[in-house]
Amino acid sequence: AIAERIDRPVVLVGLMGTGKSTVGRRLAVMLGKEFADADEEIEDAAQLSIGEIFEQYGEAYFRDGERRVIARMMEEQTGVIATGGGAFVNDQTRKLILDTAIAVWIDCEIDILVERTGRRDTRPLLRDGDPHEILSRLHEERKPFYSQAPIRVGSENGPHHETAMAIIEAID
Ligand code: S3P
Repeated sequence: AIAERIDRPVVLVGLMGTGKSTVGRRLAVMLGKEFADADEEIEDAAQLSIGEIFEQYGEAYFRDGERRVIARMMEEQTGVIATGGGAFVNDQTRKLILDTAIAVWIDCEIDILVERTGRRDTRPLLRDGDPHEILSRLHEERKPFYSQAPIRVGSENGPHHETAMAIIEAID
């Protein structure tokens, strides 16, 4: 079965709102593997929300926690891992993921990301400006990094379980 042939963690990368967490949960169920969410692990470790971490300690502190949490997750070899949108930009984190896991870039049209991220106000990077502009800029800035993932799938065309299916087909 496909689940046994996937012998490395599957790590989802891509912008906020692409569905990494939801797709990751689905994918883990389909593969019968464990799922872990890097943002949630950081929140658990800090006992604070991402918004509170940014407010009280700043982005650099968050990025440091993010790097450490993902390094630990790579050691634990969790089956499917969703990362925060900025994690794969860090050189150390990206190298670690590329060396030990199957990285999957979930890409999506900006308009859809604006709509999805607009439903909840949990993302500090989208608070100080026009979300469309910010997400477009981040897409340009991060594309050179995200595109280093060996697999890319689009998430605009269907429900999240279809994106999860597309990932399985792309890996297989
Ligand atoms: C961030 C994305 C967020 C979260 C933090 C910063 C980013 O995760 O890690 O707000 O830099 O793109 P999601 O991609 O899960 O929204």
